[in-house]
Amino acid sequence: MMIRVMNEQDIEEVLLLEKELFSSPWNREHFLFELNENPFSLCLVGIVDDQIISASCAWIIYERAEISTIGVHKAYQRKGYAKKMLKMIHDHVKKQGVSQIFLEVRVSNVPAIALYESFGYKVTKIRKNYYSDNHEDAYEMMAEVRYLVK
Ligand SMILES: CC(C)(COP(=O)(O)OP(=O)(O)OC[C@H]1O[C@@H](n2cnc3c(N)ncnc32)[C@H](O)[C@@H]1OP(=O)(O)O)[C@@H](O)C(=O)NCCC(=O)NCCS
Repeated sequence: MMIRVMNEQDIEEVLLLEKELFSSPWNREHFLFELNENPFSLCLVGIVDDQIISASCAWIIYERAEISTIGVHKAYQRKGYAKKMLKMIHDHVKKQGVSQIFLEVRVSNVPAIALYESFGYKVTKIRKNYYSDNHEDAYEMMAEVRYLVK
């Protein structure tokens, strides 16, 4: 998988991926904001056979970062692509001097929680009623960047 920075021409394909993967997918305006207006945002796409099979955005705000979204096309899951994408983000935030990296995940999302735990993220908080679509709780997870598993 080749990973590069997302651009506006990618958005149509990324939206298809979002719809396939998420019950509350991000829309075009959201990605346009991330790409053009949010100075703290880094969005990446992963490409296999000329197709976008993975997308992820992170916010890097001085010494703190947050993974805001990550997804891998269903047909390409469990092949190590999310791991590769996260490693790229981790390398980037390390270079930027970030000390802690956060994310939120649905408490029922076993694959994603296992992925994050494999890098050393730990649950730091439960956010009750976090998701408006089904009122599900979220785990806030955090890793100290210097202790991230490579
Ligand atoms: C979560 C997600 C990004 C993982 O992507 P992936 O490319 O399949 O993950 P990887 O192949 O890199 O897996 C890395 C590790 O994560 C864990 N993992 C991934 N999928 C798993 C599953 N279905 N069950 C249990 N553990 C899983 C494992 O520890 C795995 O390592 P292993 O394969 O050596 O056991 C993918 O399932 C996805 O896109 N889900 C829908 C969107 C989503 O929920 N995103 C996260 C929002 S917080």
